[in-house]
Amino acid sequence: MMNLNQAVVLITGANRGLGLAFAKEALTRGAKKVYAAARNPASIQLEGVVPVQLDVTSAAEVQRVAQELGDVTLLINNAGVAETGPILGDNAVDMIQRQLEVNLYGPLRLSQAFAPVLKANGGGAIVNVLSIASWITGPLLATYSVTKSAAWSMTNALRQELAAQHTQVLALHVGFIDTDLTKGMEVPKVTPEFVVQRTYQGLEQGASQVLADEPTQQVHAALSGYPDIYLNALPQHG
Ligand SMILES: NC(=O)c1ccc[n+]([C@@H]2O[C@H](COP(=O)([O-])OP(=O)(O)OC[C@H]3O[C@@H](n4cnc5c(N)ncnc54)[C@H](OP(=O)(O)O)[C@@H]3O)[C@@H](O)[C@H]2O)c1
Repeated sequence: MMNLNQAVVLITGANRGLGLAFAKEALTRGAKKVYAAARNPASIQLEGVVPVQLDVTSAAEVQRVAQELGDVTLLINNAGVAETGPILGDNAVDMIQRQLEVNLYGPLRLSQAFAPVLKANGGGAIVNVLSIASWITGPLLATYSVTKSAAWSMTNALRQELAAQHTQVLALHVGFIDTDLTKGMEVPKVTPEFVVQRTYQGLEQGASQVLADEPTQQVHAALSGYPDIYLNALPQHG
């Protein structure tokens, strides 16, 4: 079980969007230290955090950060990218490869590098930011979905393998959030702050999974129903 007020938190992609909201709320909840990681550390404007340079696609940078930040107890794998386009598009393979680098291999590299750190600090926790798109897809988010499904599976394996060292692994699933990533999408969105509250609440309660918003809860509930919910497209126009 994780208490934010005793945590040393590392958040990837903390310069904007959901990552920035994670950093702000960690400070509000009295975290001992907040490492705010970004590709460009100069883009970290938030007072009270320790800026860290980290491109999650660089194995060397991930190694360096894991060696330098030996006090981390909570790793939030938030950095992510979404490219839009159909699965039968000419460039779908390239799109999936690019997104896998950030959305799957990034969190995997960080989890591998920080597992010993978390263990040394008593177990700690990892939050992986997944999506409603781990379970249901749509025409725009087809290739992104592939990567978020893969990241879900990776998260489940991680949880099993880290149980012995008492590391809590939390999968955050959520639908549309009002950030740059959904700019121009005419759909109902929740705020990053709402998602962060739900996530930290779940973390402090020892949860393995948080379904942050209603659409995600509905899709999750419908997964065992008939006809299968994932035969439908994720509505992307409000
Ligand atoms: N918005 C949604 O509707 C939604 C829904 C479900 C899940 N999510 C997930 O939530 C997470 C945060 O997304 P967001 O909505 O906050 O998007 P966002 O506003 O576009 O922010 C994405 C963040 O990821 C960072 N990033 C991208 N590539 C990176 C790399 N190679 N190394 C390090 N950082 C990198 C970006 O840094 P730069 O500023 O350097 O680009 C930025 O800080 C993502 O995992 C996303 O898939 C979002």
